[in-house]
Amino acid sequence: TKDRNGIEQVVLRNPHGASARVSLHGGQVTSWRNERGEELLFTSSKALFKSPKAMRGGISICFPQFGNCGSLEQHGFARNKIWTVEDDPPPLHQNDSLGKSFIDLLLKPTEEDLKCWPHGFEFRLRVSLASDGNLILISRIRNINGKPFSFSFAYHTHFSVSDISEVRIEGLETLDYLDNLCERERFTEQGDAITFESEVDRVYLSSPLCVAVLDHEKKRTYVMRKEGLPDTVVWNPWEKKSKAMADFGDEEYKQMLCVDGAAIERNIVLKPGEEWTGRMELAAVPSSFCSDD
Ligand code: BG6
Repeated sequence: TKDRNGIEQVVLRNPHGASARVSLHGGQVTSWRNERGEELLFTSSKALFKSPKAMRGGISICFPQFGNCGSLEQHGFARNKIWTVEDDPPPLHQNDSLGKSFIDLLLKPTEEDLKCWPHGFEFRLRVSLASDGNLILISRIRNINGKPFSFSFAYHTHFSVSDISEVRIEGLETLDYLDNLCERERFTEQGDAITFESEVDRVYLSSPLCVAVLDHEKKRTYVMRKEGLPDTVVWNPWEKKSKAMADFGDEEYKQMLCVDGAAIERNIVLKPGEEWTGRMELAAVPSSFCSDD
C-alpha cells in the first residue's frame, strides 16, 4: 500500500488480528495495533507525511546522530531517506524470523549523504510482528569503509497513552541522566517511578534491559526490552513546546509519551568490516509485567 504521501508502506499482520505498518520513508513504523485493533503508537493529527521530513509519531530511526549535538541535521538523516526492501538479507539469528511476519529494509548512503557524513555503511532494519503481537525492531549497521566511524542511535518511539498525568515509567529509578533541557547536564534520578507534570527531555544512562510504561487509565503496560541499547530517552514536550511545534496539536502532549531505546552517551564505534546490532522488542500487556529484571 501507499502512505498519504504516495510512498510505499508495508503492512504486517499476525494470525490473531494484530498489525503494523512500516513506511519506506525513513523505515518508520507508522502504526502498531493489538488484536483488538487498538492503536498503540501515537501519531499527531497534524503530522505531515511529506518527504523529506519524518512524520511526527510512530517509531523513527535516529541515525547517525541523536539530537542536535553534532554536525548533522537533528536526529540524523536516516529518518528522512527512502529505504529499499531487501529480499534476501544476510541471515539473522533463527529465532528472529520464526513464527513472525516481517519486512527487511536497507539504507545505503547516497553521494549527497557521503558529503555530510563521509562513511560507507549498510543499515539493515528488520521490523517483525510476532504471533503474540509483540513488535520487534532489529537494526544492523555495518562499516563497509576503509576507516572506523562512530555514531549515536535511537528508536524514537511515540507511545499512545490515555492521559500523561496518569502514566509512570518503571525501570529508570535512581539512574543518572543527561538533561536536554539543561545543556545535557548530568543528574541522578531521586524519586520512585517517573511521573509527569512538566516538560521532560532526558537521556537515562545505562538503563536496564527492560523498561515499562504503565498507563493506569487504559490498564495497559508497554514493556520495552532492548539489546545493544544502553540508554533510554524520555521525552514529553508539555504545553508550551507543543504550541511551538507546527506538526503537533496543542493538547496532544497529553496523549503521547516518547520512550526511546538508544545508544547516546557513548558513541558506537565500528572498525572496517564490523557490524553493530541494536534490538528493541515492544509488548503491550494488560498489567504491570517486566519479568527479566
Ligand atoms: C526527542 C529529543 O527524542 O525528540 C527532543 O530528546 C526532541 O530533544 C524530540 O525535541 C523531537 O525531535 P524532532 O526533531 O522529531 O522534532
